[in-house]
Amino acid sequence: MQNGEASLTALVAAGHRAAHQALEGGLVFADSLAIRILGRDAEEAIAVAKGRPERRGLRLFVAMRSRFAEDSARRAIEAGVRQILVLGAGLDTFAYRLEPIGDLRVFELDHPATQRDKRARLAAAGLAEPPHVCYVAHDFEHGDMREALTAGGLGVARRTFVLWLGVTPYLTEEAVYSTLDAFARFPGGAEVVFDYANPPRTISDEGVRDFHHAMAARVAQSGEPFRCHLETLELHERARALDFVEIEDLDRAALVERFLPHLQLKPRPGAGGHVVRMATRQDVVAEGAGR
Ligand SMILES: C[S@@+](CC[C@H](N)C(=O)[O-])C[C@H]1O[C@@H](n2cnc3c(N)ncnc32)[C@H](O)[C@@H]1O
Repeated sequence: MQNGEASLTALVAAGHRAAHQALEGGLVFADSLAIRILGRDAEEAIAVAKGRPERRGLRLFVAMRSRFAEDSARRAIEAGVRQILVLGAGLDTFAYRLEPIGDLRVFELDHPATQRDKRARLAAAGLAEPPHVCYVAHDFEHGDMREALTAGGLGVARRTFVLWLGVTPYLTEEAVYSTLDAFARFPGGAEVVFDYANPPRTISDEGVRDFHHAMAARVAQSGEPFRCHLETLELHERARALDFVEIEDLDRAALVERFLPHLQLKPRPGAGGHVVRMATRQDVVAEGAGR
């Protein structure tokens, strides 16, 4: 991110969700606030999406990753989890569409500059900051995330569900694994949904590889270069070593199979973008949920 300014990739991701509402009617992912939170930027995001049909695959991936993460979060809430963390929240609107149940709390952690921009956009859109939302401003590159979260009121003894979308590519591999390690060590346990990309050399489809390189060049230009690619098997092995016992990993083909089975053009299985859900032992839910 450049010169303490709000994340541009957060704006782009939110633009994809807004365009998904406008162009596909929220077919995969219905987000009633996606357009509203963008304010004046919504129109441009939708116009760009209309003018660049080659970006439809990426837009649908962004929609499917949110759908998968929110479906998983709602299941966790039904099972009793009352602590949600949106890590690198950007302009995500989950917290503002969620019915507050009991003592449910949603923590939004983000870089201070992006969080300031989001709160200004919420105010401009006339969207109140609900009492169940807690803001934690933190730069992953400086200081300890767990300390920042506990200082912000998050209780590590309660089971925590984490939505961590669109962030791992911009971190170092070390930061990704140390973040997973931190969640695995929460005494109340954790369930985390995040997306990641396989190394470009493992993408066999030339068109997909070219698209990846073009996107990498674009994000680097915006000051947020891709820094982390993860090998699927190694990720799963290391996650198991950290005590994540449940791992559900969907590549693009599996996401399309689940959420867009009627789509004519199916991506090939294998390398590319993935969304994964990892959970530590379930039996801590009952202990942690009510606290
Ligand atoms: C592509 S955006 C994704 C935002 C949101 N999760 C979404 O799916 O729309 C990347 C997010 O990571 C955050 N981020 C990047 N580097 C960060 C850092 N060093 N510390 C804290 N947050 C960071 C940005 O502020 C931004 O919100």
